[in-house]
Amino acid sequence: MATIVDNNAFRNLGLKHPLIVAPMAGGPSSPELVAAASAAGALGSAGAAYSSPEEIEKFAAQVRQCTDRPFAINLFIPRPIPQIDPGTVERAFAATAKYRAELDLAPAPFSGPYAEDFDAQFEAVLRVRPPVFSFVFGLLSAEHLRAARRVGMLLIGTATTPEEAQFLEESGVDAITLQGSEAGGHRGIFDPEAPDSELGIRQLLGQSIKKIRVPLIAAGGIMTADDIRGALAGGAQAVQMGTAFLATAEAGTSGPYRSKLLEPTRTTRTTRAFSGRLARGIENRFMDEMNAEAIMPFPAQNKFTRDIRGASAASGSADLLSLWAGTGQGDLWQGPASELIDQLFSK
Ligand SMILES: Cc1cc2nc3c(=O)[nH]c(=O)nc-3n(C[C@H](O)[C@H](O)[C@H](O)COP(=O)(O)O)c2cc1C
Repeated sequence: MATIVDNNAFRNLGLKHPLIVAPMAGGPSSPELVAAASAAGALGSAGAAYSSPEEIEKFAAQVRQCTDRPFAINLFIPRPIPQIDPGTVERAFAATAKYRAELDLAPAPFSGPYAEDFDAQFEAVLRVRPPVFSFVFGLLSAEHLRAARRVGMLLIGTATTPEEAQFLEESGVDAITLQGSEAGGHRGIFDPEAPDSELGIRQLLGQSIKKIRVPLIAAGGIMTADDIRGALAGGAQAVQMGTAFLATAEAGTSGPYRSKLLEPTRTTRTTRAFSGRLARGIENRFMDEMNAEAIMPFPAQNKFTRDIRGASAASGSADLLSLWAGTGQGDLWQGPASELIDQLFSK
């Protein structure tokens, strides 16, 4: 079976396994997890979307202290942020006042910028020069693409529909991660307002394989060696797994989040409540209670709920923090990531 391990463009990475350990911004992808995944022969990925340029450089240096194997850095493609009027902010404060009171959080004044500056983050990535740069939420501009090429980075975009995959291929990426609706974390939909196609990974792969020539990477609900074999048999050249690595020893997943992940069953659904963009996570109180009318657009809502999520985690409660996870079930591996990777590819 052809995989990215021996694909022309990717062969130089010297990967042992056709596995990308997913970028998981917001804590789970610690430098230790990225390094452990890469050292074990997979491609570890830094989820750097919420990191400043300095943090990106520091993270990469930490990975490189642990391993000389290749790794990826991942960012969110920015989109124009709608104007947020004072009434919207007022509604958002009113809807979250009880949580801030419970957590003893003073409602600090809320204003932009709502996210790190993408160009500055990208410049940091160019300086760090990881062998692979991956991205989600759209297309990389021609200018950024040329700059990435100049420093020799391979490029992986993310698609949730065959149409998005086609746009990515036309833009000149080296591979495409197909994100099925089973996937944990943010849906990679280009347009944050567009309805979710809700295509599962089998359908998405089946529909895309006929049209797309660059290697396809299957993501969403892949938990076991059998799942990996199924995706490769369906034409994927690699898999990308996130949830399965969330409870590994190296993951930076918080205590209350880990406890929820380790419950016997995980019930997940998609929500905009935490960030303003659709994302899949384990059901909890914040998801249940947040009124859709009071949710700001991404990434404003993400910045707005950061103090609540942080204080909830610090207080040991999983009620008010995002618990991103895919639909895949089964006990999560709590040992070293390298042992999970060995188990997944032992046959
Ligand atoms: C906690 C968490 C954070 C994530 N953060 C990112 C991210 O920063 N960038 C990205 O491209 N994908 C992100 N994803 C999505 C993964 O790349 C991937 O699509 C997903 O984990 C695959 O589904 P699975 O979780 O069922 O394995 C995240 C997923 C999780 C679970």
